[in-house]
Amino acid sequence: MSNSTEAELIHMFKGIPFTTRSSPELLKSLDAFDAREDDVLLVSYPKSGTHWLAGVITKLYDTQVTITSPIEFGDISKLEELNNLSSKRIIPTHLDYNMLPPNFKNKKCKMIYISRNPKDTAVSMYHYYRDNPNLPTIDTWTAFFDLFLKGNVVCGSWFDHFLSWEQHEDDKNILFLFYEDMKKDLPKVVTKIALFLSLNVSDNDIQDICSKSSFSEMKNDTEKENSDPSHTVCALTSNRKLIFRKGAVGDWKNHFTPKQNRRFEEIFNEKMKLSKM
Ligand code: A3P
Repeated sequence: MSNSTEAELIHMFKGIPFTTRSSPELLKSLDAFDAREDDVLLVSYPKSGTHWLAGVITKLYDTQVTITSPIEFGDISKLEELNNLSSKRIIPTHLDYNMLPPNFKNKKCKMIYISRNPKDTAVSMYHYYRDNPNLPTIDTWTAFFDLFLKGNVVCGSWFDHFLSWEQHEDDKNILFLFYEDMKKDLPKVVTKIALFLSLNVSDNDIQDICSKSSFSEMKNDTEKENSDPSHTVCALTSNRKLIFRKGAVGDWKNHFTPKQNRRFEEIFNEKMKLSKM
């Protein structure tokens, strides 16, 4: 819950709400960002399983890699900070495809997009808003539900974000993943990621990575460590404890009224008319 006003916490850039933790100068400079061919982008709409995926990916490498904070997070010094990193960079981002620095596209950097049932994403984001002082105050689930459907939340409309990336689903350098598939069969998804990243990983290692990446393991690890803003892949908090809430599929059923569900489905069907989903 926040004491700051919405204007202090949120600003608009190219029609999308960003927190003031993403400075306008940085956002304006992103187009000039110099990507490296071996950069790996970890892309998501907030609350889709970004930290989970990041946890898996870092465990897959046996060489030194640095997982940075999201490219759009910070002030203008961020770009220099990234330029100065000597190790391989895994760069998270919540940007939609159109806002992504063109250099990542031109250099065909590998990108992994993780998506999640937007109903569960909405519920996860609602709790995150409520517990996070860096986000505007939300009084009720009903109020948040409306904001989410209108895209009046950080990172804008789930639908626009998903659709902007889905258009590139068949690009060879982009891997599309779903949170629900990770819940259903994590070893299968981790094997797919390893293949995509051209990493040689044994079945034993895959099993080990999966058990270390379970919800309870990751939550426990977080409780043991001290929060450090430079070690979070989330642009919206430096408190990793806010990330690991429930880790379940279908929590939306505990929040949506039947009327809200009908409205959501109507809007989903309308907005996703051209989607393969
Ligand atoms: P819930 O709020 O529904 O629990 P992000 O990392 O993109 O912010 O997403 C956070 C969501 O992913 C939270 O969802 C969190 O609990 C869930 N999550 C994080 N690690 C997970 C894991 N190891 N297994 C399953 N879900 C996980």
